[in-house]
Amino acid sequence: MATNAAFPPYESTDGNGNYSGIDVEIATKIAEKLGLKLVVDDMDFSSVITSVQGGKEDIAMAGLTVTDERKKNVDFTDSYATGVQSIIVKEDSDIKSADDLSKASAIGCQEGTTGYIYCSASEDDGGYGDKAIGYANGAQAVQALMQGKVDAVVIDNNPAKEYVKANEGLKILDTPYVQEDYAIGVNKKNPGLRDAVNKALNELISDGTVQQILDKYINTDADSEAVSSSSAQ
Ligand code: ARG
Repeated sequence: MATNAAFPPYESTDGNGNYSGIDVEIATKIAEKLGLKLVVDDMDFSSVITSVQGGKEDIAMAGLTVTDERKKNVDFTDSYATGVQSIIVKEDSDIKSADDLSKASAIGCQEGTTGYIYCSASEDDGGYGDKAIGYANGAQAVQALMQGKVDAVVIDNNPAKEYVKANEGLKILDTPYVQEDYAIGVNKKNPGLRDAVNKALNELISDGTVQQILDKYINTDADSEAVSSSSAQ
């Protein structure tokens, strides 16, 4: 499994080769069903798809959003979770809503992610061009925010909550971006594996295992509170 293990609650590492998170637990169950052993390969997010495409790993699982562009490079299973991009700012920031993002002089993103793609688009396409700065992972982008090197970080909503919990003085703003579907990427040359992984995944969805894993890591009550306290659509 190719991943970038700096993306809690989906994947994180203790630095000693131990991995945890939603994706790691789901992948472990899938491997069990297929009589395989899960091996995690941690890398920069921007290498996850190319690495699977090149056949180095069998699957990509990284809170990975299904996009048409990515479908050209890997096959996807059915979706097992959803996310949406959100904005992290300092509590006393002038940036009070998504509209204010244009005031930022620099916006931190994880390189190669959908958040980076949206933010680095030209202004005509609703982005912020060169103001979008790509970091190798979300943790580094949030460090840059803490150090004042960027004025905001655009990242998936559940990781955003984890980073805000772990770093004092930060808060989350909603964005108007569309909901994204997370799925497992599989090498296009291995449709047999894709079908086997998809079948195992769907069994784990049907018997409630995936929901149990999601519930273990994501507090849905707090989620809906956080969403309803904002006016963004
Ligand atoms: N969902 C976003 C995307 O697919 C971000 C994923 C980042 N994942 C990670 N493990 N760092 O572009």
